Amino acid sequence: MLSANAERNADTAPLLKVRDLQTHFRTSRGTVKAVNGVSFGLAVGASLGIVGESGSGKSVTSLSIMRLIEPPGFVAGGQILFKGRDIVTFREREIRSMRGREICLVFQDPMTALNPVYTVGAQMVEALQAHRPISQREAMERAIELFRLVGIPAPERRVHEYPHRLSGGMRQRVTIAIALANEPDLLILDEPTTALDVTIQAQILDLIKDLRQRINTAVLLITHDIGVVREMCEDVVVMYAGKVMEKGTVGQVTDDPKHPYTVGLLSSIPDPRMRGHRLSAIGGAVPSPLHMPSGCPFQPRCSRAMPACSQMPDMKDCGDGRLVACWLY
Ligand SMILES: Nc1ncnc2c1ncn2[C@@H]1O[C@H](COP(=O)(O)OP(=O)(O)O)[C@@H](O)[C@H]1O
Ligand SMILES: [Mg+2]
Repeated sequence: MLSANAERNADTAPLLKVRDLQTHFRTSRGTVKAVNGVSFGLAVGASLGIVGESGSGKSVTSLSIMRLIEPPGFVAGGQILFKGRDIVTFREREIRSMRGREICLVFQDPMTALNPVYTVGAQMVEALQAHRPISQREAMERAIELFRLVGIPAPERRVHEYPHRLSGGMRQRVTIAIALANEPDLLILDEPTTALDVTIQAQILDLIKDLRQRINTAVLLITHDIGVVREMCEDVVVMYAGKVMEKGTVGQVTDDPKHPYTVGLLSSIPDPRMRGHRLSAIGGAVPSPLHMPSGCPFQPRCSRAMPACSQMPDMKDCGDGRLVACWLY
């Protein structure tokens, strides 16, 4: 069954509501507006994909939600309402309590998330003990249970292994298990399979899909691959150069894309020689963040550009709750 539009959904059972988010970086060459007015919502237990080419601002969006943006980066405007409270205004103590307990982030490369000098079981125990009083023994039992949940074979042995002894796919299963340790309300997955081999990618995506059916954690899945979103999510936000180009249900956006950028993403072709990576069918490249064209940032690459595109269009409702920022509509 298709869900309602992400934002309507979020109104009935709001978990996360990002409103006009602006995340900028001050550099010696000028201000980079990595995220430039992004809005979306996510309901309790729902799944939303954020898709766009490299450099669109997807990771900066997820890091903003986790309050992990470091100088020279800063949130320059907007709100990130989580259960109705604005994360942007959280104090350090509130952030620490939220991070790893209510919201968890899984990165592309599991090695950056894991500490090479501790066993994976010890890291799981630490994640569990960080947020609740639980004995070493109980925590280790829970670790084994969670490792089993994410499909790690012989978990009672695996907990004693160091990260480098595990394959890339197993390591990503470990980081997902650690992320789930405290039963977060929101799991953010930022390109969770991009660093993995194609067959392992499929296994991890299957795992995430399976977990979604078993636990009521909302998922924000970030990927450059619209095919992955189509398979995994109910709703989708298409981002380009720090802006939202189109959003709606996955059915609306992938069966009948409205924005020329979405059309381009969908017509990208899989190339077996590139081990499953897609070749971009969109001519040209993402503009330099320091030299953004005025108006619609996609205009220089858009086959349907027109004079109006020198102004950024507002989001328009296509009548069915799907929103598109394009002068064609
Ligand atoms: N620390 C930083 N300093 C300056 N610019 C940055 C920094 N981090 C990210 N950016 C810029 O923000 C933009 C969006 O980056 P990112 O969110 O990582 O894109 P995506 O995840 O969609 O590939 C890029 O143009 C990138 O150069
Ligand atoms: Mg990224």
